[in-house]
Amino acid sequence: MRILSIETSCDETAIAILDITGPLERPEVKVLGNALYSQAKLHEQYGGVFPMLAKREHEKNLPILLEQVLAHAEKLEGFLPSQLDFITVTVGPGLEPALWTGITFAEELGRKWEKPVVGANHMEGHIYSIMTQAATLQLPAIALLVSGGHTEIVEVKDFGSYKLLGHTVDDAAGEAFDKCARMLGLPYPGGPQIGKLAQEARDAKRGASFKLPRPMLNSGNLNFSFSGLKTAVLYKLRELGDVTPAIQEEMAYEFEEAVMDVLTSKMRQAIEAQDEIPKSLIIAGGVAASSYLRERFEKLVQEFPGMTLLAPTRELSTDNAVMIGLAAYVMVSKQPSALLSHEALRASGNLSFS
Ligand code: KG4
Ligand code: ZN
Repeated sequence: MRILSIETSCDETAIAILDITGPLERPEVKVLGNALYSQAKLHEQYGGVFPMLAKREHEKNLPILLEQVLAHAEKLEGFLPSQLDFITVTVGPGLEPALWTGITFAEELGRKWEKPVVGANHMEGHIYSIMTQAATLQLPAIALLVSGGHTEIVEVKDFGSYKLLGHTVDDAAGEAFDKCARMLGLPYPGGPQIGKLAQEARDAKRGASFKLPRPMLNSGNLNFSFSGLKTAVLYKLRELGDVTPAIQEEMAYEFEEAVMDVLTSKMRQAIEAQDEIPKSLIIAGGVAASSYLRERFEKLVQEFPGMTLLAPTRELSTDNAVMIGLAAYVMVSKQPSALLSHEALRASGNLSFS
């Protein structure tokens, strides 16, 4: 199937052209074009994503990215829009003004090229972002989706069949990284900055002289909470006085340890609570770009013989359009009639798994 996919749910504008064939467990994915523009720097001054600015930037950048991917695909394989099977666009979850920009753009293209347009779920996109890796996705799987907007544990019973097992009740893990980094005077996005300092502390075996809480470890459910951790960082920093490079490093180390302890421990609980040990463990979303998260989860899967860890490339951990095309491939393969629907797409900011 030849698919043009569009992602505008948050602060990344992205378009991809994919040629996907083969079984869902191990499809062959050819990326004919993949363009992405991150607005992160523009939103930095607002301390978070500002929806109306995101919308304006998406509107400005979509035509530019489209031209880029079309030119790339044509040069690579003589691709023409007439060869597309369908167009897909993220309909949720995300910021509604931003989502609508992508939807309107996709529908205009659909009319112009006379191609069907189908909606894709951004979170399913994160799950299937692992599909460009030459690995087999054996089901049932369990997925940890960790980004700046989400922290969720999802059971993937079958392609297209999910159950949300746990989620954050306040901040997402990535958001906590970003807020902690801000308190330490580190630039946005904070995850990679904290990761780098924490690794330096680990390599030098420096560690931390204080402990931060590991929230919700024994909450009796699979939910997360990261806002208390953020407050603990604030109080500790007040107590420590000037934020020197040594304090930055120490705090980065202890904060990353606390978050990773919670993520791995909750995931262990989730796996043990399943009737059958999942065959695959997926980690995806921006925070899954973290080398330390990958290291901790490599260790976790070793506790469960027969379970394989699947993670996307770093590039596809954060928001992108390739993963949206993959989610749509799964959806249309399971439900080919989706291509025949003439219903207009709608943005659904709180779109969930159930
Ligand atoms: O998936 P994503 O690009 O966008 C959202 O949907 O939010 O994720 C961005 C988030 C940011 O919060 C960023 O700090 C975090 O992913 N992140 C990391 C790392 N790289 C990015 N968090 C921890 N460690 C990293 N290496
Ligand atoms: Zn995302």
